[in-house]
This record gives sequence, structure tokens and C-alpha cells, in this order.
Amino acid sequence: MLKQLEELERRRAAARLGGGDKRIAAQHAKGRLTARERLDILLDPGSFEELDMYVEHNCTDFGMAETVIPGDGVVTGSGTINGRLVFVFSQDFTVFGGSLSERHAQKICKIMDMAMKVGAPVIGLNDSGGARIQEGVASLGGYAEVFQRNVLASGVVPQISLIMGPCAGGAVYSPAMTDFIFMVKDSSYMFVTGPDVVKTVTNEVVTQEELGGAITHSTKSGVADLALEDDIDALLRTRTFFDFLPLNNREDAPFRPTSDDPLRIDNSLDTLIPDSANKPYDMHELIQKVADDGEFFELQPGHAGNIIIGFARIEGHTVGIVANQPMVLAGCLDINASKKAGRFVRFCDAFNIPIITFVDVPGFLPGVAQEYGGIIKHGAKLLFAYAEATVPKITVITRKAYGGAYDVMASKHLRGDLNYAWPTAEIAVMGAKGAVEIIFRNQSADEIAARTAEYEARFANPFVAAAKGFIDEVIMPHSTRRRIALGLRKLRTKTLENPWKKHDNIPL
Ligand code: HXC
Repeated sequence: MLKQLEELERRRAAARLGGGDKRIAAQHAKGRLTARERLDILLDPGSFEELDMYVEHNCTDFGMAETVIPGDGVVTGSGTINGRLVFVFSQDFTVFGGSLSERHAQKICKIMDMAMKVGAPVIGLNDSGGARIQEGVASLGGYAEVFQRNVLASGVVPQISLIMGPCAGGAVYSPAMTDFIFMVKDSSYMFVTGPDVVKTVTNEVVTQEELGGAITHSTKSGVADLALEDDIDALLRTRTFFDFLPLNNREDAPFRPTSDDPLRIDNSLDTLIPDSANKPYDMHELIQKVADDGEFFELQPGHAGNIIIGFARIEGHTVGIVANQPMVLAGCLDINASKKAGRFVRFCDAFNIPIITFVDVPGFLPGVAQEYGGIIKHGAKLLFAYAEATVPKITVITRKAYGGAYDVMASKHLRGDLNYAWPTAEIAVMGAKGAVEIIFRNQSADEIAARTAEYEARFANPFVAAAKGFIDEVIMPHSTRRRIALGLRKLRTKTLENPWKKHDNIPL
């Protein structure tokens, strides 16, 4: 008996060693942790239960029969984060560069299938040279098996991808179909084709970091939701982030009690809006003053800064925040902002997370580049997302709500449950000057100035909209948190269903 136990220990130790001490040292030398070290930080101490530790590849080509390493380049299993179940896979770069073989893919699929059966999120730690080159199409098939599961799991359990090393070629499409992507700065990259291929095809010279590093994807492309400092930072931030999310689409996000009074008023908000309509202010200030303990987990802060998205809590319950940011492009909606917020709204709706929208929007960004880039279709994404969402929706217009953007930003007409406005709100087809210049095109400057003042007096307030019932109440800025908290209490039992359909056809 003892002999068998020793044999088990020996096999376990061999699997834990992965590609061996030399490759582990090389991984550390790059400033990266190993697959198992990463899981130790991500999961609650001692909670990890590994599966498939002894799985081996089935490839015999190119001398592979002689090189078999138990586990086959990925560590899989389940654990807990602050006591809540999560399924995980962590690619082991020390074993064939973390490359994905048929068996490696089967291990990932197994934990994804289990996560779906029990209703628990999946977190993938990606660090891989891509398809296992020696295996050819078997490896490609393995990727597609993972892709298929990513799609079936979408909207059922949250899926988070951490990119902690290479992620190239078709391999990028599994993370791309998950809900959130966090990348590690100076250590991870994602691209469909690398710098060498880019040089050959387009003659562009670009480094790996420039083409697909964490900064590129968290600023320019918007592919990544966050760029984090190093492995430890990425893993710890993921733990914090995980706490905002429900385990699946039938459960509520976890309740986190707070001593922050939900009825707290904040008099400083009464002076947040500057006297001049064209002066910006930082919308983050409002978000922080409304959220429990000022805590706001912002996503994509470096991309499309004209709209802010992220999670906060009100009275201990998770809410999704969407807010125009007057400090960037005057808070207007453009292609990137619409895509960024549209996808976020859909995540919240899929996972029962109420949406709080703070509006200060002068309209859609004009311009040839925007039109050629398809602002019509992209802007429609955000409109579509808000209109189909059935979760509680509370909207607060702080200042401008002009034109189509007024409609888009969770207006009453898109089934907003509680639509509030501050007394400083201006709800109109467009700004007074622009409006008057169109209606009174050939008038003198004096006449235009007089008409502008008249237009402002008529529309630069929330009461015209309130008189029509489009605004439920004009509220004091200082009572915003209180109003939202009381609103969410009322809406906790909200039920609303869209008509039956196979699925919708959101303008992609
Ligand atoms: C098998 C691989 C591998 C792969 C790396 N290795 N990538 N083995 N299949 N795809 C092995 C190496 O042979 C090496 O083994 C070890 O992993 C570490 O690799 P190094 O090259 O020494 O590491 P580094 O210098 O850090 O470079 C990392 C790398 C490079 C940039 C990822 O390894 C690389 O370019 N690999 C190939 C990438 C690639 O072309 N993949 C296929 C893409 S196509 P030893 O034994 O020496 O330690 C694809 C399609 C997916 O993925 C399609 C899905 C639909």
C-alpha cells in the first residue's frame, strides 16, 4: 500500500515540476510566475483542486513520443475566490511553451463543461505559444472546441481572460469571446499575426509591444479591459473584480455589507456643475460620491475616455455604471464609446446587474472619419443594448442630454425605470446656439443672440421633459445616492421580459 502512495506522490511531484527547473527559472527571469504560482495567488489558500494532472499528449510525430510531460502544458481545476466557486485553467509555458494540443484543449473543455453544469465562472490564465505545432490540425480542432464552449457559456457564466504571456494567431479568439480581458504590461501580447508577418505583408515595422502589448490593447484597440503592472497585480485585481460578479445568469451578484449610509447626502455635488455650460468637470467625482465607500472598479479607463464604464456597489449590491465624461471630447458618443458601453450594458443585462447611467452628452461626434467608420451601426449598438436590457435602469441627467444621444442614454423611452434630472439638466434637440443658427439662418447677429437666449430659457432646463413625464423627478444633486439607493430597493423585484425570439440581431 505504502508503495502505491509513494508512487502517487512521485507522479504528482513530476507533474508539478512541469517543464523542469531550468524552464521555471527562465519563466521567472522574464518576470513571470509559473502556472501554479499564479493559481496560488488567484485562489483562496488551499482551495485549488486540480483535475487531469496526469493527462499526456497523444502525438507521435517529430519525436514527440519521447517527450511526454504529465499535465500537457495546462493546469486545470477549481477553487474559490473569497469563498465562491470558480473553474480555472492556467497554461504552463514551461511545457512546450504552453502550446495547445488536442489533450490540452480537452482539459480546458472539461472544466468549462463542469462550470456550465454547476453555474460557476471560468477564469483562464493564458500564456501560450499557440497551436502545438507538432500536432497540426488536431490542435486547431482543440481550439475550436474551446471556442464553441466560450460561445455557449457566454451570458450563462462570467468568463474572464488574463493574458500573461504570448497569445497569438487564432488563439486570441478564445479570450476575445470571453467577457473581460486583463493584460499584464510589458509581458503579454495579443495579435492575429506577429510583427514579422506584418512586415512581410504590409511593410510596416512594429515591435511586439507596439502591435499587441497591454498598453496598445487597453488604449488604442479597446481589446483589453485593463493593463496591469505585473502578474501579482493582475491576479489580485482579478480577485477584487470577481467579487462584483454573480456566479451565473440565474443568481444575483454577492451582497457586500457596508457601513456607508445609503441615504447619505453629499452637499459638494450641488456645486459639481460649473457655471459655464462649456466647462468640463470630472464625472468620476459623481460616481465616487454615489458609490458605497467611494469604490469604483473602472474598466477600459484608457480607451474611449469620453464614456466611463465599471462596477460599483450601492447598499452592498453590485451596479454597472455608464457615464458620459465631459472631460474627454466633451462627453460625446463616438464609435469607440458606443462599442465600449454597448458591450458593457449587455454584460450587465445578461447577469442581472442593474445599470446606473449618468448623462452629460452633447450628441454624437460629427465627422467624416466617424461616418466612414460606421458610427451609424456602432452607435446603434449602444441604443440596442439599452433598449433590450430588462434589468433595473436608473438614469440621472446632470447637464446636457442632446439629440439622439438623449434617447440612447437609457432614456424613459427605452424603458428607463427611474429617470432623474438635476436642475442643471438641459434636454433638447441640440445646444441653443446651433439650434438657433439653423432655425433663423439669415438673421442678424443681434437677432441670433436674442433667439439663443430665448431658446436657452425655454429648453436649457429639465422641466419641459419633466412636464411630459420623460423625467420622473428633478432631484437635488446632493441627494443622488439616496435617490438611487431608494430606487434600487424598489426595483429589486422588477420583472420584465422581451418577446420570445431565437436571438436578436444586434447591429454588429
Ligand atoms: C510547440 C512550442 C510552441 C508551439 C513554443 N514552443 N511555441 N512548441 N508548439 N506552438 C516551445 C519551444 O519549442 C520551446 O521548447 C519552448 O516552447 C519555449 O519557446 P521559446 O521559443 O524558447 O520561448 P520564447 O523565446 O519566449 O518565445 C516564445 C514564442 C515562440 C514567441 C511564443 O516560442 C514562438 O514564436 N512560438 C511559435 C508561435 C507560433 O507560431 N505558434 C503557432 C501560431 S498559429 P523548448 O523545448 O526549447 O523549451 C496558431 C493557430 C491557432 O496558434 C489557431 C486557432 C484557430
